Amino acid sequence: MSQNIFDGILTQKTLFVNKEALRHTHQPVYLPHRDTEVEDLSFNLVEALKGHIPSNMILYGVTGAGKTAVTRYVCDQLERKGEQIGRIVNPVLVNCRQIDTQYRVLSHLGNTLLEEHEQADIPFTGWPTDRVFSELVRRMDSRGGVYVIVLDEIDHLVKKAGDDLLYNLTNLNAQLKNARACVIGISNDLKFTDFLDPRVRSRLGQQDIIFNPYNSEHLQDILRERASEGIASDAIAPGVIELCAALAAQEHGDARCALDLLRVSTEVAERENMSLVDQSHVRIAQAQIESDQVTPVIRTLPTQQKIVLSSILLIESHGLRNIQTGEVYDIYKQACVILQTQFLTARRISGIISNLDMLGLITAKVISRGRGGRTKEINSCIPNNIDSKSVISKSEPAFVEVFEHKYRHQSRL
Ligand SMILES: Nc1ncnc2c1ncn2[C@@H]1O[C@H](COP(=O)(O)OP(=O)(O)OP(=O)(O)O)[C@@H](O)[C@H]1O
Ligand SMILES: [Mg+2]
Repeated sequence: MSQNIFDGILTQKTLFVNKEALRHTHQPVYLPHRDTEVEDLSFNLVEALKGHIPSNMILYGVTGAGKTAVTRYVCDQLERKGEQIGRIVNPVLVNCRQIDTQYRVLSHLGNTLLEEHEQADIPFTGWPTDRVFSELVRRMDSRGGVYVIVLDEIDHLVKKAGDDLLYNLTNLNAQLKNARACVIGISNDLKFTDFLDPRVRSRLGQQDIIFNPYNSEHLQDILRERASEGIASDAIAPGVIELCAALAAQEHGDARCALDLLRVSTEVAERENMSLVDQSHVRIAQAQIESDQVTPVIRTLPTQQKIVLSSILLIESHGLRNIQTGEVYDIYKQACVILQTQFLTARRISGIISNLDMLGLITAKVISRGRGGRTKEINSCIPNNIDSKSVISKSEPAFVEVFEHKYRHQSRL
């Protein structure tokens, strides 16, 4: 039989028993350290099972704090209990990052309530918003029961499309005759209610739940729970879970980040044909994840921004830190000459520097120089494991080489 490149890989021992259990989309059956949040949410939503209207709520917390997981879990349980006791409760989850206009949210809600065979879809676009809204109300009334409308990542929608949707949805009960509704907004931006009309804010925020960030011990328990479902029990060396948890806790207690670390570490060990995941695999996984995150951001930057970032990295590659705006501008202008591109004004570059700061690619700290005015102290934040020059030269071929050659011998670099 001829050789096939998959032979070796296919027969290789796998360290996972169920890789899906470590993915973000997997819904765990138990959520350690979220008992209080689960309780607060279910205490309010139990009203739906009694046929009453639960309070509207806002759930806040940093990314990866378990807001979506907890809400999905509680809604799932709610729906099941409703079926058991013969009460109609309809939880509907909408991700407002994906479905990000008022029209699309309303039509999505309306279409998920589509009774089989009898009604037609609300079109993807084209109806006036009022018509979509009244069609939604009609469908809710015709089915009846209590609706729990969960708007996940709601801050995206509000920033993009304003608060009209929230105004309308929090006013639903005034329109409904037969059905009832409540709205749960989820946000990882604590200040998102600043964007809301005060009336909407008070109607939506009848009850808030804050999800505090997980600490390292919490993350260890979460990882153990998920690993028990996903990874062979004897495949993890002592200290691995602790290291993954500690690294993720250093960021901001992001369970998603901890899970990624553990999953990728296990993949790395597997690829090396090891039967045990150890701490060195975690380090490799960490480097791999960081570089996967940064590279696409750089690749998609507009050209002028790439040149500014390249200039900063090139200055740094010669050992300089705390670079000032003027220095960046100087090198940037010379780079533009080499690249035969028109250069922008110093003011525009200052804007680009702020943008790179916002993207987390650099930090730019404003410092006052007494009477000399103000300047920025700039440092890059590209992780050490990424070879910044190769990143830049991939996005701007030829730039690094020409530039390096020309300035290698200059004393100020
Ligand atoms: N207590 C927990 N136990 C087990 N897994 C958890 C727990 N908390 C979070 N997770 C898992 O971590 C990942 C991130 O959680 P989740 O998606 O709920 O975060 P989030 O707060 O909604 O974050 P974002 O603001 O970014 O949407 C998911 O895979 C989730 O299953
Ligand atoms: Mg979420």
